[in-house]
Amino acid sequence: MQDRPHADVVRDNLTSIQAHILQEERRHPGASGDFSMIISAISLAGKAIAAKVRRANLEDVLGAFGTTNVQGEGQQKLDVIANEIIMKCLGDRVSVALLASEEDEEPTILRRGGEGGKYCVLFDPLDGSSNIDCAMPVGTIFTVLRNDPTIKGSVETVCQAGRDQVAAGYVLYGSATIMVLTTGSGVDMFVLDHSVGSFLLVRRGVRIPKSAKTYSVNEANALQFPAGYRRFLDEAKASGYSSRYIGSMVADVHRTLLAGGLFMYPPTTSKPDGKIRMLYEANPLAFIIEQAGGMAYSGLKRTLDLKPAELHQRIPVAMGSPEQVDGLLASLREHGEQA
Ligand code: AHG
Ligand code: MN
Ligand code: MN
Repeated sequence: MQDRPHADVVRDNLTSIQAHILQEERRHPGASGDFSMIISAISLAGKAIAAKVRRANLEDVLGAFGTTNVQGEGQQKLDVIANEIIMKCLGDRVSVALLASEEDEEPTILRRGGEGGKYCVLFDPLDGSSNIDCAMPVGTIFTVLRNDPTIKGSVETVCQAGRDQVAAGYVLYGSATIMVLTTGSGVDMFVLDHSVGSFLLVRRGVRIPKSAKTYSVNEANALQFPAGYRRFLDEAKASGYSSRYIGSMVADVHRTLLAGGLFMYPPTTSKPDGKIRMLYEANPLAFIIEQAGGMAYSGLKRTLDLKPAELHQRIPVAMGSPEQVDGLLASLREHGEQA
């Protein structure tokens, strides 16, 4: 449970996400409004994707698209649809220089250098899409990076360490459509009110519980985990932990953010770097968890300190409440994990 339950719940005025971002920008003299245009495009994309997800069992949008993405994974029809919606919503925002998607081989260059693009937006259009046919929660994860016009290549431009993110967030299409956002000064949460068509602020300055006895991991892989992870899980079982795992990272991390505990996707013998994509999944969610007072590690290193070597790089992740992440790190050290 939280230290002060619901201390962050917004009970005063109705605030839309657009108004919230404009208010935030006012605190930064000289802000041009470019950034709020990006967040408003993402919220529009979130609403359009939410509508598709809700009607997925009624329209011919379920199942495999018949292609594989750059990572060799089968694409669902909704992966492709969500990708197109985001591209359309962000494509004409003049402050966006580059868009990079988990589904595309290369970043899409919209405008460079003198053309005014200040930011790059990276996203996983539909996280957890293998769950979509069963009406399980899925989501869109995004991060906003600065565009350095002096860097020539588009891949080099977006291969930035996670600590340099300008903003990150996700839209979760669950029993409610939720948007969670950080711009580096805490985490705010919005709920889509379908009756008015807006994401409304419901929690300001969300804090992750300091500790909760829950772990979220694909435990079917446990025999392939390094010893430190296995021992942590053994000890957790012996001390009364509960397990929750959906298989949509965005949903598992959202649950961890609100209820506490540990989410992890460790290295396995068959996937030594784990499965989670650094730029589209690990970094934005690590940024949010840290901004909420939690911790995010890849092995013994802070996830946000790592510099990506390639666009679609994967890394092991463990993130959540400080007490659980600390406990895992102690177990990794004790059982020979190298820093
Ligand atoms: P995506 O649907 O974008 O490819 O991501 C799925 C990812 C992540 O969301 C989730 O945590 C993980 O795959 C689940 O993997 P396992 O099925 O191996 O548990
Ligand atoms: Mn994903
Ligand atoms: Mn995806």
